[in-house]
Amino acid sequence: MLDIAFAKPALPESGALVLLLAEEDLGGTLVGEWDKLLGGHLARGLAAAEFKGRKGQATTLYAPGGGLSRVVLVGLGKRESLDAAGAEAAGGHAVAALGRESVAAIDARAIGGWAGAPADVALGAVLRAWRFDRYRTKEKPEDKPRLGAVKMLCEDPAGAKTEWASRRAIAEGVFLTRELVSEPANILNPPEFADRLRKLEKLGVEVEVFGQKDLEKLGFGSMLCVSQGSAQPPRMVVMRWNGTDQRKKDSKPLAFIGKGVTFDTGGISIKPAAGMEDMKWDMAGAGVVAGLMAALAGRKAKVDVVGLVGLVENMPSGTATRPGDVVTSYSGQTIEVINTDAEGRLVLADVLSYCKKRFDPAFMVNLATLTGAIIVALGNEHAGLFSNDDGLARRIEDAGKAVGELAWRMPLGEAYDRQIRSEIADMKNVGGGRAGGSITAAQFLQRFVDGCPWAHLDIAGVAWSGKDQPTAPKGATAWGVRLLDRLVAEHHEGRAAEPRPEPAGNETAAVSGAGIANAATLSEGTAGSEPIEPAPDMPAPPAGEPSPAPGAAPRGTRRPPARRPRR
Ligand code: BES
Ligand code: MN
Ligand code: ZN
Repeated sequence: MLDIAFAKPALPESGALVLLLAEEDLGGTLVGEWDKLLGGHLARGLAAAEFKGRKGQATTLYAPGGGLSRVVLVGLGKRESLDAAGAEAAGGHAVAALGRESVAAIDARAIGGWAGAPADVALGAVLRAWRFDRYRTKEKPEDKPRLGAVKMLCEDPAGAKTEWASRRAIAEGVFLTRELVSEPANILNPPEFADRLRKLEKLGVEVEVFGQKDLEKLGFGSMLCVSQGSAQPPRMVVMRWNGTDQRKKDSKPLAFIGKGVTFDTGGISIKPAAGMEDMKWDMAGAGVVAGLMAALAGRKAKVDVVGLVGLVENMPSGTATRPGDVVTSYSGQTIEVINTDAEGRLVLADVLSYCKKRFDPAFMVNLATLTGAIIVALGNEHAGLFSNDDGLARRIEDAGKAVGELAWRMPLGEAYDRQIRSEIADMKNVGGGRAGGSITAAQFLQRFVDGCPWAHLDIAGVAWSGKDQPTAPKGATAWGVRLLDRLVAEHHEGRAAEPRPEPAGNETAAVSGAGIANAATLSEGTAGSEPIEPAPDMPAPPAGEPSPAPGAAPRGTRRPPARRPRR
């Protein structure tokens, strides 16, 4: 991870300087002060480059004087519409514009209004700087990105450092997910996946691994019919994070369940060759559950959570399931397997009913790259959201909006459920035709939740991105880690111990009276690479809003009220 430090504003002696500027900052005191320190170069450069501060606009001024290699200007758009997601995007744009720099300072003071703003920028920067290069052995050093350290310039470095601790844990979770999803299927098979999850024990997560024999004993006939064609044995991993007071153990845990098909050939209902390589990321749901557990444990979330993943490889072979086979699921319900390529639901069926029976959770949220049909419906902008609980669905939608991971609710209903009736068994694993394919898949899952409040996120369109995004290079996105972390923090970590006044942040001017010190006179409040520690209590929200727990990252990352007048 990029090394992040926080310090009072000062002209760096070398490296790059990034100025985040809202449209209103042009011609303001922030630019004025830097311009003075840069001997007039900034104002001339801004004019020559026609930099307007528009959202996402980035301009580089090379060799601006002093020891600096470059000044990068990143536009924030209109100040009033700035929120945490915008702050993160700015951090990401900054990293993308830094080219081959190895160190940079980012002046984050133009983003104010909430306590965690500099830490939000830092989060965007580290998320964008991540890269999966394990298998590139021939890349020339000069072609590798070099950025190793970023210093965030802000008025309250100590406060920003505190805010950073929980965000850093979330970034670690995101990186675990991205790494798992990026790995090729010859490396990341079910046993290897389970081994990697064992490493979460270091964070305090209890990890239990179930092998072929265990799953046979449990009667996982639905999940095992998927793995039976593969030389790779299946695994189910149960992860538990107990973050609440052990003395009052009456509360139900939250449950997150992931589809972990480490490779999906389709089985006997084999997929066409073109694009089949994408099916290495058919374990993204499980990858997100793993990253979420890492994030929650890493920031010591005050909540009890279970994470379950069903890990299998779907292959055609002499031992593979045939279309028409009937299997008996863990729940006792029988399934006619019409199409062996509709395997994700077969895996989730057993894991969902096992989870419900063993943990009786407050809710179950499952994630799965379940259907191509959801990509037809929603493209790559929203995940599909299906739920039997309106409140849960709403909270998921809202958490998604706050972190920029969007989910769109889709319907469920009797008429769709009828489509998976079978002539020979309790149900079949696909609907009649292609119509409503994502919905019939969700109906299938719903038959295994046994009345538990439940939501299903079909992430087939959002787990992987073909293009760079502000806070993620193209490839594995880890969509869902941030959303679910936010869901937990906002609604399930109890109330803050003591109400506190609103942060002074909304009075923060773009440039405070302190101004910019000379490098020589600066004391640096640095932070960054220390071990994760829980943040202190966060301020209480306005009356009527549920309060997230102390130490919950998201309190600070939370979107500030829209269009609140500043100053
Ligand atoms: N893993 C696929 C869904 C998928 C497709 C994910 C494209 C990402 C990109 C899933 O197992 C699958 O094959 N679904 C079938 C279901 C069909 C057989 C009813 C599909 O969507 O075609
Ligand atoms: Mn499939
Ligand atoms: Zn699949």
